[in-house]
Amino acid sequence: MRDIHICEVGPRDGLQNAHHMMPTEAKKRWISALAAAGLEEIEVGSFVPPKLIPAMADTGEIVAHARTLPGLRVVALAPNLKGFERAVQAGAHKITFPVSASRAHSLANVRMTPEQMVQEVRKCRDLRGVEGPQIEGAVSTAFGCTMQGEVPEDDVLRIAAALAECCDCVALADTVGYANPAQVRRIFARVRKEIGAKLEGAHFHNTRGLGLANALAAYEEGVRAFDSSMGGLGGCPFAPGASGNVVTEDLVFMFESMGLATGIDFDRLLAAREALVNGLPEEPVYGHTPQAGLPKGFKRAA
Ligand code: COA
Ligand code: ZN
Repeated sequence: MRDIHICEVGPRDGLQNAHHMMPTEAKKRWISALAAAGLEEIEVGSFVPPKLIPAMADTGEIVAHARTLPGLRVVALAPNLKGFERAVQAGAHKITFPVSASRAHSLANVRMTPEQMVQEVRKCRDLRGVEGPQIEGAVSTAFGCTMQGEVPEDDVLRIAAALAECCDCVALADTVGYANPAQVRRIFARVRKEIGAKLEGAHFHNTRGLGLANALAAYEEGVRAFDSSMGGLGGCPFAPGASGNVVTEDLVFMFESMGLATGIDFDRLLAAREALVNGLPEEPVYGHTPQAGLPKGFKRAA
């Protein structure tokens, strides 16, 4: 039994923003190693125009590979109907749509207003058959935006409520690393009051070093599903100043040392980190726990 569900987003959020391309075979090895470490959910890529993000051009092949890994839930990001159709055809189990609460970021990222993007998600939901994939609506820039600055909480609430009507689950994302723990508690509590159990995931970036603090604040507000990225890779190419996600290795250490089971084996996670470094040797990787090692006598959560 897992107390905490971690979705590794490095292969998507990380590689879309990396300065170098990871070869397809190396991606497959990395994803296999992540699954072997106990990650039950991995966002393996996005279905965006290859011209726009060349690092995501092989996502179809990557999804096909990830589907062969037993017990793994394969997640892909789609920015529009075409991306949704490609993701369905590839066989993704869960498809995530980025829906910015900031109008400026929405236009820069998907060339649609937040309202148009909600409509796009609705269209995809209507097209999904009974056997179709799970649909997640991720409210991007939910805690602030580098383009627009402040994002009114009421806008976040409105987008989350609209997404709750057409998605299986809703996540809140701090795309640019502006969030602080008090804000996280307040906004998660407000959205939870509005949409109840449909609110599931938290996606934090560590841009100002508050990734773990924000994750803990979300945990205290009842959140049990977190996105994170191995080595702290990550960032949105269409949000100036966005940098890496909260580091998977440190997030696992935090929860496991608190006695909360993540289902992830730390030694195997380090093996997956090696697969990442081998596949992308020029890219810097971060993380405190991998550098310091586990404390003497450390025991995994039962
Ligand atoms: N996958 C592949 N090709 C796609 C596509 C998709 N999901 N969506 C559109 N295209 C193609 C179209 O077929 C068209 O091709 P053509 O020029 O050969 O006719 C071309 O791309 C332009 O299509 P259009 O619908 O006008 O898209 P756009 O240029 O307005 O871009 C998005 C809109 C949503 C596709 C683009 O902004 C996008 O991919 N954004 C996501 C960015 C991202 O991944 N951000 C980080 C994650 S939060
Ligand atoms: Zn992100």
